[in-house]
Parts: sequence; structure tokens; C-alpha cells
Amino acid sequence: MYRSHKNGELRIEDISKEVTLCGWVQNSNDLGGVTFVNIRDRYGITQLVFNMETDSDLCTKARSLGREFVIQAKGIVIERESKNKKNPTGEIEINVSELTILKEAKLPPFTIEDETDGGDELRMKYRFLDLRRNPLKNNLLLRHRIGLETRKYLDSLEFIEIETPYLIKSTPEGARDFVVPSRMNEGEFYALPQSPQTFKQLLMVSGYDRYYQIVKCFRDEDLRADRQPEFTQIDCEMAFVEQEDIIQTFEGLIKHLFSNVKGLEFENEFPRMTYDKCMEIYGSDKPDIRFGMEFNEMNDIVKGKDFAIFDAAELIIGINAEGAANYSRKQLDNLTKWVQRPQVGAKGLIYVKCNEDGSFKSSVDKFYNQEELAKWAEKCNAKAGDLILVLSGETDKVRSQMNDLRLHMGTELGLRDPKVFKPLWVMDFPLLEWDEETERYHAMHHPFTSPKPEDMKLIDSDPKAVRANAYDLAINGVEVGGGSIRIHDRAIQSRMFDLLGFTKEEAEDQFGFLMNAFEYGAPPHGGLAFGFDRICSIFGGTDSIRDFIAFPKNNNGRDVMIDAPSHIDEKQLKELSLALNVKKPLNI
Ligand code: AMO
Repeated sequence: MYRSHKNGELRIEDISKEVTLCGWVQNSNDLGGVTFVNIRDRYGITQLVFNMETDSDLCTKARSLGREFVIQAKGIVIERESKNKKNPTGEIEINVSELTILKEAKLPPFTIEDETDGGDELRMKYRFLDLRRNPLKNNLLLRHRIGLETRKYLDSLEFIEIETPYLIKSTPEGARDFVVPSRMNEGEFYALPQSPQTFKQLLMVSGYDRYYQIVKCFRDEDLRADRQPEFTQIDCEMAFVEQEDIIQTFEGLIKHLFSNVKGLEFENEFPRMTYDKCMEIYGSDKPDIRFGMEFNEMNDIVKGKDFAIFDAAELIIGINAEGAANYSRKQLDNLTKWVQRPQVGAKGLIYVKCNEDGSFKSSVDKFYNQEELAKWAEKCNAKAGDLILVLSGETDKVRSQMNDLRLHMGTELGLRDPKVFKPLWVMDFPLLEWDEETERYHAMHHPFTSPKPEDMKLIDSDPKAVRANAYDLAINGVEVGGGSIRIHDRAIQSRMFDLLGFTKEEAEDQFGFLMNAFEYGAPPHGGLAFGFDRICSIFGGTDSIRDFIAFPKNNNGRDVMIDAPSHIDEKQLKELSLALNVKKPLNI
């Protein structure tokens, strides 16, 4: 038996017990007569003590231990003289009688402590060491817990977990596919699934009316803090349901997770807002509603005063940064530079300070007098001490820029507390969006999303105005999930492909299997998928999903630990009937 106890386990009640512990050397402290060694495993840390007087050989051996050596120590649990209340095992220590070095270790390239000295890249390269640190360990434990509670909740509602294939067919919709060449089918490729969407719909046709899967999905898209090329969904589908059934069921799941993982109860229903309203007052389809700072459309009060920028603008939006009238000139200049960065793309920023004495100071004093500025303040619900920030331009652009600025101000003013959770259902998404580049419609969710029956009449005359039975759940400004009621009728599905610019042949070639299935008894169905990594990061109170994935990719989509992607050799290429056409010389 390697160990009798784990390192987080022993307490004052265990005094006098003979125990054997195993683990890694966290650190040691040599005080002349005695040597203390902290031994660590994933459960905690226990202090070992070695006494020079009673056993000098053993104590000398203990002094030779390096950080991260794997050791086994046998001894008696004794009460500590100076207790460490911060550590659950801090009242005891082990008076060691036998010490075995199970494996020496090289000095790790960074310290395995909560606050480490290792930079990002180095820690990614040695991820197996980084995972020994408490912050990452706790994240993985949280992830495990959320997964477990998800399964418990869904199982209690008779959902069954069914796996779907990873080697599937490439489709032109959505993000770019990762493709896999097939050796047995020369010149042909599988694609890795962006989601199990069509399979879960087929399972509904097969009669498995409550399906779920915690499943890897793959998308070749630009990466951000909340995007990885391979990520995990809690993917769900139900048959014989309406939108309301789905929302109730999965709001229940999120409430169950908050309650059982974080001990937080949500008494009321999650608020809901239409997509149109979200865009109008937050400029985002995933607004962070932990704080107000809503958009105020100012066109009617600012136009016609000879300020050419506003006169030429399609939309002028003001927000009220409460209590920020004390921003200095320098801070305002920095804000202006911030919105002018290419990532935001605004041309400039107008401000109005609402002074404590009731007067106003603005960057457009030349064009607007005090009475006019008082109207701005009224429009924006601003009072003395507040700061009004205004952007103008084309509707979509200015909304998106103002969304960036609003979130930035929310952060600057400390309004985005990671311990506060504000979910919001965003409802009634448009069915289609127009893509200027390709000059065609794209499905806003995906091509299987059902139009609202009452909007079907607009499908030929005004396709852009057609709303979908589609919904997203946002928490704290992050889209954590989304789904829809599906089309389950071959004719409507064909019409949809038609609108998306597929020829009959293309639609048949890409999705014939699904449309054919619809002819064999398709029940009404719908579902949604949550981003599992995103739920974990929100529960963990950080922005980056990477910290909740054991072995993530970096921002260039690379796994720097195993050095992937990598070249494959000529023989493999040949077997796969592939020839490379790369600009960079191969470094093999
Ligand atoms: P959607 O594309 O909205 O829907 O994805 C569902 C959820 O998955 C998460 N997500 C991601 N998380 C990390 N990295 C990524 N690259 C990434 N992309 C998406 C988001 C998102 O809300 N099949 C549909 C669902 C359905 O209609 O049932 C789908 O995949 O949290």
C-alpha cells in the first residue's frame, strides 16, 4: 500500500496514528536541529518533520529533497507547536520514521505556487506542471462538478446521453471546418463537427425525444478569450416541445447549477428581452446587465445645430457614466484614443460633464449652449456629477462601438462584479442576416432554425424582417448558450436553403439526408447548446475559458506543449493522396 491517507486529510483527531503519505515536495525549511518538508497532492498539503538529534541520517536525507521530488513518508501524527490555521491540516505534522524517494525531479521552470513566476507561454509549454497549481486544479474541479450536476439534472428529466460521430461531412454554413483526409476514400475529406446539430435532429426523428451530450465541437475561427478551436458543448434536443418548454427546462438547468455548485438561488424567472430591444439599448445581442448605462438615442435633440458630424450621422447615441464627471482632461483624452483604436473604430468621442453647480462642460460647447446641454442630460437621465459620452455614425457601427465603450466604462467604474450573476434570455432573433461581402443571406443561428409562423408571410417580400424561434442565454455579457425550434418540414427546409442561396442540387448534396429523414415522420422539435467552457469560466469568475480546459490551445491555435499542429512526413502525405502547396519551406 503506497499511502494510508491523502495529504488534505489528517486532523487533530488523528494524533498518534501511524500513517503513510505520498506526494510531491512543495518546499522544505531547514532550521538546524529540525527540517520541515511540505508534501503535496491534489487533496492538500501536510507538514513532515525530521529531527537531527533523533535520526540524523533520515534528517540528512530529508535535506537532500528537491522541489517536486515524489516521496513516500511513514510516521506518527503529532500536534504542531505553531499551528497554521489557514491550512486544514495545519494543526498537525508527521514525525517521520521512514522516507522513500519514489522519483527525483528536475527543478521546475517556474514555481508551483498559487502566485507563480512563470509567464503564459512557459506555463502552456509545461501545462502538466501548471496543472499542479491550486488555481488550475480548482478550475478543473469546478468543471467536473458542473459536468456532474448537469448530468444529474438532465438524467432526472429522462434525458439520455447519446454520442454522435466526430468524422462527419463538411458543410459550407457557419465557421470554417477542420477537415480530415480519408486514406480509404482517395481525395475525400471528413470534417470535424462544429456541433452535433444535424445528428441530434435525426435522433428526434428516431424517437429519442430527450437527448443530451457533453461533447467536443471544432471550429476553425479566430480565437479570443472565450473561444477555442475545440471546445465543449452541453448539447440538448427535445421533441414535442415549443420554445417555452425549452426555455423552462434549460433555465432550470442553469438554476440547478447555480444552486448546487455555487449555492446561489434565483427566485425569479430570468429576464427576457427581444434581440431588437437589446440592439437598441445595449448595441449587443449578449448584453451585460449587471449595470445600466443604457443607450439613449439623441438624434431629435442634437441635429440641426450646425454640428456637421451629428447632422451627417444616421444615429447619435449617448450613455450616462454615473459619477464620472470628475474624469480629468487626460482621462477623457485617453478614452477618445481608446474608442479610436482600430478594434473599436470610432472617429471621435463627445463628452458632457454635468458639474456639481448644475452647469455643463462639453467638448462641443461651440455648437450647444447650456440649455441644449441640459436637454442632453435629461435625455440621458444624467444628474450633477455624471458624465455623458456620445458617439455617432452609421446605426450598426455606432451601436457596436458604443457597446464596446459601455463595457469599457462598466469595467473602469467597477460595475462588473464577477461575483454577481445576471442571466438574460435574448429572444426573437432575426432568421437571416445579410452579408455584404458574399452578397447573400446567412442564417443567423443555423439553417435548421424555424421562422416564426406569424412571420412566414414576409419570407418572400421582406426576408430580413422574418424573426426566428431562436433564443440565446447571456450571462454577464457572455453568450453561454443558444438554440431554436427547428424546421421539421421538408418543404420549409428547402425554402430556407433556397433563401440561403443553395441550388436544389447543393441542398440535396449537403443536407439531403436530413430532408429525407423529415419525410419519415419528423416530430416537432427544438433544442439548445450551452458552451460548457464558458459556463465554467463564468462560474469561476474569469474571462478566459483556457483556464478551465486541461490542455488548451494558444491564440494561434497551437498546443505548445505537444507542438501541434505539426508537419507530417512524405509517406503519410502520399498515403492520403495529398500534395502540399505551402509558401514557407518545410522545416523537416
Ligand atoms: P452555437 O453556435 O450558438 O449553437 O453554440 C452554442 C454555444 O457554444 C459556445 N461556443 C463556443 N465556446 C467556446 N469556443 C468557441 N469557439 C465557441 N463557439 C460557440 C457558446 C455558444 O452559445 N447547434 C447549435 C445549438 C442549437 O441550435 O441547439 C450551436 O452550436 O457558448
